[in-house]
Amino acid sequence: GYEWADVAALGRDVAGRAVRVRGAAHAVRAVGRRVAFLVLRQGSSTVQCVVGGGGGGGGGGDAGVARFAAGLSRESVVDVAGVVSLPREPARGTTQQEVEIQVKKLYCISKATPNLPISVDDAARSEEDVAKAKAAGEQLVHVGQDKRLDFRVIDLRTPANQAIFRVQCEIENVSLASTRPKLIGGSSEGGAAVFKLDYNGQPACLAQSPQLHKQMAICGGFERVFEVGPVFRAEDSNTHRHLCEFVGLDMEMAIKDHYFEVCDVVDRLFVAMFDHLNKNCAKELEAMNRQYPFKPLRHPDAEAGVHVEAMGDLNTEAKKKLGELVQAKYDTDFYMLCRYPSAVRPFYTMPCSDDPRYSNSFDVFVRGEEIISGAQRVHVPEVLSRQAEARGIDVGSIAAYVDAFRYGAPPHGGFGVGLERVVMLFCGLGNIRKASLFPRDPRRLNP
Ligand code: 4AD
Repeated sequence: GYEWADVAALGRDVAGRAVRVRGAAHAVRAVGRRVAFLVLRQGSSTVQCVVGGGGGGGGGGDAGVARFAAGLSRESVVDVAGVVSLPREPARGTTQQEVEIQVKKLYCISKATPNLPISVDDAARSEEDVAKAKAAGEQLVHVGQDKRLDFRVIDLRTPANQAIFRVQCEIENVSLASTRPKLIGGSSEGGAAVFKLDYNGQPACLAQSPQLHKQMAICGGFERVFEVGPVFRAEDSNTHRHLCEFVGLDMEMAIKDHYFEVCDVVDRLFVAMFDHLNKNCAKELEAMNRQYPFKPLRHPDAEAGVHVEAMGDLNTEAKKKLGELVQAKYDTDFYMLCRYPSAVRPFYTMPCSDDPRYSNSFDVFVRGEEIISGAQRVHVPEVLSRQAEARGIDVGSIAAYVDAFRYGAPPHGGFGVGLERVVMLFCGLGNIRKASLFPRDPRRLNP
């Protein structure tokens, strides 16, 4: 019997064992007529399989099976059954170089079309490698991002992409949570950027955030609520950092004295998250770095966290300048700006008690770009209605939300994080599309 095995677990210690492994035919090479080398890939691990040639009991030079292997189209899913052996010299270009598999049986489970639109190797190439090859007079194919996104299921098989989504899962796992409704009766952030739909005859929209319902959960007596869920924005923002559907990590909590209690949770959560990623995803970060070079994130520990207060409205340019100042002065890529002008924040934001032109709000930046916005909320229904009206919001459409504060509601605050932004900026990917399995931007609804 051949025992199922994972490529990642194949090492010297299992030499001699009879295993069965399923994976993708990453590369195939015939050597003469009797032997073929097949590189089998599982996730980001690869192992060399020797087919035919009698090596290590490979069936005494089975030319038929070698020919069959050599004819496999790349990316076909195959099963190999064989014996793990130690190669005479380390296999080149595979992750499991200490061992190879002497194949006795080979099955093609799913045949890939021989004319793949993009190859995994081409998609995995760094711009640097392409530039170097070009300088040396060689031709290397570089597949542009749009084409890679068109054929995303192949693109996702590159080591960098396998690594990116491992890291994304780690972040989600650290943020254990439940979810609020995604079909709602009105806009949750104010403004017009909502996807409208028909809800059994009633007008409805896809939630722009779990904002209103996470606050209502606090009114329901929960001290702290967390959420990881989809967020929909109908904005026509064609940038490197906007998607029309992204994953929101949201948190809302009752507070005692000050909205800085919320900021402290942000500090502790993110410092712990970054430490966790550095510790548990070192291999993934290295794999990404090979294709998308970046510097490790600098962050202070929670004790040393700095709070910088903004003095007025900041446009993108000013934010960037301030960011550079903070980065230089405090040697950190992770910082928070507080006390934004009320006019630039949503209607539910609590004004400062000493000067209502400013608000108890904050944004968090990583490498100079926003990943989080948060604030204390208004828990007084009359003030809430007034602030909504002042922004031209139809208070009738959010009546149930405003009413939730008429039955006794504690002071509270919270924040919303864009998961893909965190992945993009922590990993220095430069474009949010790289951090989304199947990105939805203003132009892209496929695949
Ligand atoms: O700043 P936003 O719109 O804030 C809210 O939704 C509030 N309800 C949060 C709160 O609790 N006060 O969005 C929160 C975060 C942003 O900081 C950003 O990281 C991300 O969501 N984000 C986007 N990510 C990708 N594409 C977009 N179009 C995004 N818009 C916001």
